[in-house]
Parts: sequence; structure tokens; C-alpha cells
Amino acid sequence: MIFLNLVLVTLQLLGLSNAVKFDFINDFLNFNHFYKNTFYEAVTQEETAVVQLNENWRFPSIKIFATGGTIASSGDSSTSNAGYSVNLTINDLVDNIPELSNLATVAFQQIYNVGSNEITSLHTLKLRNEILSSLKSGEYHGIVVTHGTDTLEETAFFLELTLDVKEPICLTGSMRPRTSISYDGLMNLYTSVLVASHESAVNRGVLVSLNDRIISGIYATKSNSNSLDTFKNDEQGTLGMFVDNQINWFISQPFKHRIAGLFAGSRRLLEIEHSFEMPEVLILFGYQSLNVELIELAVNHLNVKGIVLAGTGSGSWTDHGNMVLKRLSDTLGLPVIYSTRNANGIVPVGNLPNGKYKFQGAIAGGYLNPQKARILLQLCLIEGYSHERISEIFKLVYGGSRF
Ligand SMILES: *[C@@H]1O[C@H](CO)[C@@H](O)[C@H](O)[C@H]1NC(C)=O
Repeated sequence: MIFLNLVLVTLQLLGLSNAVKFDFINDFLNFNHFYKNTFYEAVTQEETAVVQLNENWRFPSIKIFATGGTIASSGDSSTSNAGYSVNLTINDLVDNIPELSNLATVAFQQIYNVGSNEITSLHTLKLRNEILSSLKSGEYHGIVVTHGTDTLEETAFFLELTLDVKEPICLTGSMRPRTSISYDGLMNLYTSVLVASHESAVNRGVLVSLNDRIISGIYATKSNSNSLDTFKNDEQGTLGMFVDNQINWFISQPFKHRIAGLFAGSRRLLEIEHSFEMPEVLILFGYQSLNVELIELAVNHLNVKGIVLAGTGSGSWTDHGNMVLKRLSDTLGLPVIYSTRNANGIVPVGNLPNGKYKFQGAIAGGYLNPQKARILLQLCLIEGYSHERISEIFKLVYGGSRF
């Protein structure tokens, strides 16, 4: 009942109409009923054997947070893989995977239903706080999040930095819409519930699982705009693979990056969700004949608190641009993260502006791509960290400053 109230409150927050709300609750009840029954039957048959094998054994209970994305989209035809739109809910998906009942008792919540190009920092913050309160209720052994793939890596990275929990949190999505003959969503959702409910995934933090790979939430990145085989980690290695729906960890010890959970204790995150004030951090893209006025325009017209540069090569920027950034940073106290527009590689401290272009607020992004560097900087700004402290934190990803 407590959980149902939670669903109701969430639906109210989402502003859904009563009719939709009731449909949803009915679906939720039917679904839960159906799976609970299946679950108990399955346990009756196998209980003795399994309990004898492992006295700590428990049948997992998983919560799915659905946010929309291609996994919940429909297109015009079975062969069309472009121009589709989100029009399905998590009910439509789980209804088509009765096999989930072999893995876990599944509860689900449609927290948003949008393409991930529409996801903002406040969406990810609300998602994080919802996950935290679900886990605090003690009802769940793991969390699955369905998400559009375009910005999935940003949500995974944000969750990894702001949660410090033992339960697996697994993000998934699909590259083909539900209507496609090569729809990948149901298997991705199935394997994500599999890994989120698996004891071997405990203490591994945030995971991204699509197309048979299990990837760290710190390293996962979308490497291809169209292909199913898009989520990769550049140089750091896949944690494991699903082979015939068996989990094979390549790294047998639970792995958590040293920046994982760094902001888990933040009180400001809860306050900000209610005040709707995320610090504005812009990403500026580097290219030939870069128009430096863009930097000034942005800083003068938006309430910019920090800048991330998607620089060329290993973070290089024009001398003129560096001069403008130095002036703005020195006068306004803006931190400037030097990252790169390239998919692979590191921006080391040694590549920061030097000589007369050197400035206190210049920080190297290490191996974080611009969109991840932005999230890390944003969290540092929420905590009100000094340039020195921000630099120390970026050192944990082989970045930092010269000072
Ligand atoms: C979703 O869109 C597809 C394609 O336009 C359509 O055939 C289908 O009926 C829609 N489904 C729902 C649940 O609205």
C-alpha cells in the first residue's frame, strides 16, 4: 500500500489526468498481481533445492523506472528505423516479456516518457532522488532504468556520481523502435533485469547494458548514432558480456571508480530539485575560425557558472579564445574545463594554456568527454567548491590544473 501511494504521488507530480492515472494504477495492480502469482508458483517448485544451496538466497525484487526513448517508440513500418516517436509505456514492454517473472518480482514506474534529447539535469536529479527513496524503502534488490540512448551516458554518469548504494542500478534502452523487425528493446530490458537482480552485480555501482555488453556507468559512451552495437567504453574495457543469457564478468571483483558516489552525501541535491536551480554550465565546441564572440555573448547573456570546452586535439583552443576565457574566468571566477571534441583520448594537465595564457580557473578534463565533464563540474558547483577543490576532483580522472 505504501508503494501504491508512492506511485500515486509520483503520478500526481507528473500531472497525469485522473483517467490516465486510473488506467495506470489498474495496469500496475494487474501486473503486480500476475507476476506475484507466477513468482510464488515458481518458488514453490524450486524452494527446497535453492534454499539448501544458499541460505542467503532470496528471490529478487526489481524496480524499473521508465523514462521513454526509442525502446518505447513506434515507427511507420517494420523496416523503418528513423523518424519514429515515443508512444508506448513501460506496461506495453513488460507485458511482452513474461519471462521476467523467472528473474524477479518486477514493479515499475513511468517517471517520464520522452526522448532522451529532452532529458534535463533536473530530470536526472529527480530520477536519482526517486531511486534513492525506492532503495531506502528496502523493497528492492536492484533498479533498472529504461532511457533514450542519445543522452543515456549522461544520466548513467550522473547517477554513478550521486549514489553510493550496494544495489545494482542498470540503464538500458534500444536502438530500434518497437515496430522494427530488428527491435532490440525486449532483450535489452530482459538482460538488464537479469543483471540488476543478480548477486554478482552487487557493489558494482551503475551499469549500462545493451546489445550483450555490461559497461561501467563511468565509462559508457554512445559510439555510433545508428548501429545496435553502439555502447562502448573507449579504452577501459567491458566489465562483462551476456552469453546465452548467462552473465560472464571479465572483471570478477566488483569494480567502482574512485569518483563513484562522490556526491552521494550531498544535501544540496535535494534542495535544488525543489528550487529548480541547476548551475548553468555551457559546452563550447572547437573548430577552425572559431568565433570567440560566442563565448562573451554566452557569458554576458546567460547566467553562466562554468564552461566546458570541446576543444580540438587534446583540448587545444585558439590563443585569442584562451585570452578571452582567461579574462572572463579571472574576473567572474568561472571554472573552465578543457575537454576534447574527439571520441578517444585524454586532455592532460600539460595541455592547459601556458605562459601568458595560463589562468587559475583552467582545469583539464582528463578522459571525460565534454558532456560528462559538464556533469562533474555542475556537481562541484552545486557544492560551492573552490577552483582548487574542483581541480583535485578532476585529478581523479587524470585531469586537474597546473596550480
Ligand atoms: C504508436 O504509433 C504507431 C505508429 O504510428 C501506431 O501504429 C500505434 O497504434 C501507436 N500505439 C499507441 C499505443 O498509441
